[in-house]
Amino acid sequence: MDTVVSGIRPTGNLHLGNYFGAIRNFLKMQHENNCFFFIADYHALTTHPHPDDLQGKIKQVLAEYLACGIDPEIATVFIQSDVPEVSELYLLLNMNAYVGELERTASFKEKIRKHPDNINAGLLTYPVLMAADIIIHKANKVPVGKDQEQHLEITRRFARRFNTIYEVNYFPEPDAYNFGEQLIKIPGLDGSGKMGKSEGNGIFLSDTPLEIRKKVMRAVTDTGPTAPDQAPSEPVKNLFAIMKAVSDPSTVRHFTDKFASCEIRYGDMKKQLAEDVIKFTEPIRVRINDILADNKYLSKVVSRGAEKARESASKTVREVREIIGYKSF
Ligand code: TRP
Repeated sequence: MDTVVSGIRPTGNLHLGNYFGAIRNFLKMQHENNCFFFIADYHALTTHPHPDDLQGKIKQVLAEYLACGIDPEIATVFIQSDVPEVSELYLLLNMNAYVGELERTASFKEKIRKHPDNINAGLLTYPVLMAADIIIHKANKVPVGKDQEQHLEITRRFARRFNTIYEVNYFPEPDAYNFGEQLIKIPGLDGSGKMGKSEGNGIFLSDTPLEIRKKVMRAVTDTGPTAPDQAPSEPVKNLFAIMKAVSDPSTVRHFTDKFASCEIRYGDMKKQLAEDVIKFTEPIRVRINDILADNKYLSKVVSRGAEKARESASKTVREVREIIGYKSF
């Protein structure tokens, strides 16, 4: 069985793009692999969250993942900061991580550009902590989006480097988990680009039916097709893409035909789309709220998760210490 590790930063609520781009694949993966899914709350500290907000954010993502169907009885679901072993491995890996290579990382360069007032060492060593997250469980597969590919490449390098320095074959080099055809990209409602957390173009799993109707009805379209079988503009193509993800194929066909014959009324299409989105998200939203209200359940999930994660993590750290040369007196 393969070991899969994936971390989720506790920033904001999950949207349809997260669901169809990642979570839906996690649901399948958890049955076929030894999965570790965790909330990356150490990583979240790079942006200095207020102490009053941190716990709420962690709880929200955790509840959302569970509500989507991540099963803590099958996968190991945990909070990163509940596993202090990862910070020890991070320290050890830092000794063989070079400032030059970390400074050249694309995500770090982007942070410098966007937030020149907060270039902290945690940002610089972000990929080292991520590598520790992954190799501490000796993962061989990591599901990552495009934006995390370089971090995974760095992880592979650090694993390889450790093996070379200590002349061992200890850490496997994890591969990116590629979903190929199954990867569905969900565009935003603003007519361009993909759905994002902060772009203001997203539909969140926790949105109420009222909010969803408002958002979908306000989605960008155009003045309508002017000739039969015309290619749809970007914003209209985007609405069809969302519809394909949530609606019945017969609904998609209906509006595709209407578009092709220039009879489409975007208002009708949006109304239908809003109802289909609601039909999809509403059971998840109800479960999110139920889980958030059940602190006993959440507490059980995280303590069991921490226990399982620490079992695997502490074994690795013990062995790594031995390899490095620490011996007991
Ligand atoms: N860096 C990832 C992100 O920003 C989150 C993350 C932290 C992660 N540790 C990880 C992802 C380990 C996969 C594996 O989305």
